[in-house]
Formats: sequence, structure tokens, C-alpha cells
Amino acid sequence: MDKFVVHESQLSGTVKVSGSKNAALPVMAATLLTDSECTIHNVPDLMDIRTMIKILEVLGKKIEFKEGILSVKANKSKSFVAPYKLVRTMRASFCCLGPLLAKRKRAKVALPGGCVIGARPVDIHIRGLRDLGADIFIEGGYCQAKASQLQGAHIYLGGQYGSSVLATANILMACVLARGQTMIEYAACEPEIECLASFLKKMGADITGEGSPLIRVSGVKKLTGCEFVNIADRIEAGTFIAASLATRSNISIEGVNPFHLTSVIDISKKIGAEIIIEKGGVISIKPNQKLRPVNITTLCYPGFPTDLQAQFMACLSLANGISLVTEKIYPDRFMHVAELNRMGASIQRNGPYSIIEGVEKLKGAEIMASDLRASAALVIAGLAAEGKTEVLRVYHIDRGYENIEEKLRKLGAKIKREKQ
Ligand code: UD1
Repeated sequence: MDKFVVHESQLSGTVKVSGSKNAALPVMAATLLTDSECTIHNVPDLMDIRTMIKILEVLGKKIEFKEGILSVKANKSKSFVAPYKLVRTMRASFCCLGPLLAKRKRAKVALPGGCVIGARPVDIHIRGLRDLGADIFIEGGYCQAKASQLQGAHIYLGGQYGSSVLATANILMACVLARGQTMIEYAACEPEIECLASFLKKMGADITGEGSPLIRVSGVKKLTGCEFVNIADRIEAGTFIAASLATRSNISIEGVNPFHLTSVIDISKKIGAEIIIEKGGVISIKPNQKLRPVNITTLCYPGFPTDLQAQFMACLSLANGISLVTEKIYPDRFMHVAELNRMGASIQRNGPYSIIEGVEKLKGAEIMASDLRASAALVIAGLAAEGKTEVLRVYHIDRGYENIEEKLRKLGAKIKREKQ
């Protein structure tokens, strides 16, 4: 296992954001909808992407992945089983269910189970697929589904915490080959869903309304292969914005669509930064020396993303006053609070709320990463803290950030990877 050793740093320069992991994963699953070749550009080389490659190979795809270009061809096997040993390492693999069912008429996908950020049920996925006429049952830890021909339907996808990104992806991939029209109400509006819809349209699907809560789909008989460019990772970009704020460093971020970051830029300005969108979409951030406290509520897109809550909490722990963070998507996603407090932050968690009393300085410590985004928050805290910080269990960060320490080092960060 690796750890990061981090020292207080001042950042400067420009960083280029990688392709989005959360957009690439459903797009990769969507290649199951055709037997023709698909080529996807701008795919980040990450553990989760490698896991999805293994799952697609088990499901009978032949894959080449080199320098961010992923080519997916059909192999002979037409398996419909996504095994637990792969699915348990990555929840996004559950979005193979919809395309398998649509194309191969059967699917057996392991139930992913909970994870450190909460229970994470899949009831919305199952409800939506049942509405399309699938026969679904759970047995032996697997979700098994059958449908000789999915039928278009009017589907409401709202859940207790709003819309669901991967359930929307699953249903969208299932209904593109269904007979007749489908209306998905309370669809997730995230850019990753828009990206998936663009990919499906390039394959020949008939979709309108993606990016809004109402998506309309007219089923088609067949989809073909295509060449596609994946979007950039808005969460990686937001993580660099948080790093810039916490270390009060001027940096620029390129390669990402600034419109995917409106809520994050808005909050960052309130915390105290001049943010300029330059020609070509480069985001340049100039934080004030004194950070202001703000209240952040995580919400579905276009609200503030839960995947940036931990990183911004690291910034707010250094603000000049009291901030309130309300987690509306994963009410238990606060594993980073105890670790930040070990570094001298003053954060009190109460249910889905955390009250953060800003401190003058954080102090380096040995701290434990608990999940992907929490790990990024701890690295940011380490860059802003006095002395040496050791972030243990960085395999979490490797799941979602491509070459994070190299990118940070290029910006001037004092960070190195060592064996734990
Ligand atoms: C995706 C992202 C993840 C992000 C999350 C919310 C990927 C690979 N992952 O996860 O990084 O944090 O969106 O933006 O894209 N829910 C149910 N029943 C369901 C499904 C979800 O109750 O069947 C709940 C969840 O527990 C959560 C909320 O709905 O409280 C939103 O989850 P969802 O949007 O489904 O998250 P994912 O798509 O799994």
C-alpha cells in the first residue's frame, strides 16, 4: 500500500484536467448495446476504468486501451453475468444491467452493496427497468433481469435524495432499444448524463431533453459503433480549485468546460477568490489571503456536487469564521471530519450537517483516507498545513484521480508517494 507524504506548499502554474471517470464508465457500459466497434477518446487511466475493462472483457468484449484511447470490439462470448468479485470493487459496474438487458435480453449483475459513504441502494434502477417491462428478481446477491422485448414507458425516477445519476444512465441505456417511446421524468441532469446521451445519439439513438429532468427517447431497432470524445472531469477541476483556495495560490485550470462548474465557481467567489474564465475556457483562480466562511448544501446538478464537499470542507476549515455544510445526497459522507480535526480543524458533525469553525492554521499529522474524495480533501489539507502530513491508504485516490501527485508536483506541491 502507498501513502502520500505532503508538506505545506504554494502552488502556481497551469494544470490540465483529465477525462471524466464518471462520464467514461457509463459510456463504456453503453458499448454493450452494439456489436460494432466503438472508439472512445479522453478516457483517464484509472483503477475504476481498468475494472470496467475487465467487466466488459468478461461480458465478451475485446478491448485495447492506450494513451487515453479505448477501443471496444465484440468478441465471441455473449455472457450476461457481471460477477461479484469485480462489481464489489466499483458500484458503477451496476450500470451494465440496462444495456445487457436491452441487447442480450438477460442480465445477471452482482449487487454492489454499501460503501463507506453510505447505504447506496439500487431500488430506483430496478423500479425503472421494471417499468420498461423487465422481469427482475434478486437472488444470491445478484440482480437477475429478463425481458424478451423492453417496452417504452413513462418512468418517474425520483428518489428520497432526488435524482440518481447511474439509475438515469441505466434506464437511458435500456430504453434506447425498447419498442416505442419512453419519457424519463426526474432524470439526473448531470453533464455525465448529457455525455452518455451524446454517445448514444452517435450510435444512432433517438434522444431529446438530456441535461434536463425530462428525457424523451424513441426506441430504435439497432445501434452502431462510433468514435467519441469523452468530457473532462469537472470534479478533478473542482478539486484543483479547492487546492488553490486552501493554499491561497494562483493557478489556472485548462481542458474542462467551465459551465460544468458554475455552482463551484459561485461558492469559490463567495469564499474569496477572483475567478476569470479566459479565452478557450481556461479557469484562472486568484484567492484572497483571508478566506470567508460560507454555507454549502450539496444537491443534484446544477447544485453544488457532493463529490466536492470534502475538498471544500478542507478550505472552510481555514476560513475566517463559521461555515455550515449540509450533505443532502449522502447524509453520512463525513468520514473526513475526524481526520481534518486530527490536523487541528474545528468541525462538529451533527447528522447531515457539519459546523466548521475556521482555524488560523492546520497542523501536519498522520491521517487515513477513507474514500476517493475524502482522500483528495486530506491531500489539500496537507498542502495547506504546517509541517509534514502523511496520508495513508491512497489507493482510494488512485481510483479517481489520474497522476494526481505528478499534476500537483508540476504546480509546485511538495508531495511524494512512498510505501506505507
Ligand atoms: C454518481 C457518481 C458519484 C456521485 C453521485 C452523486 C458515478 C460513477 N458516481 O453515483 O461519484 O457522488 O452520482 O452525484 O457516476 N439512491 C437511492 N436509490 C437508488 C439509487 C440512488 O436511494 O436506486 C440514492 C443514493 O443513495 C444517494 C442519491 O440517491 O443518496 C444519489 O445517488 P446516485 O445519483 O444514484 O449516485 P450514483 O449514481 O451511484
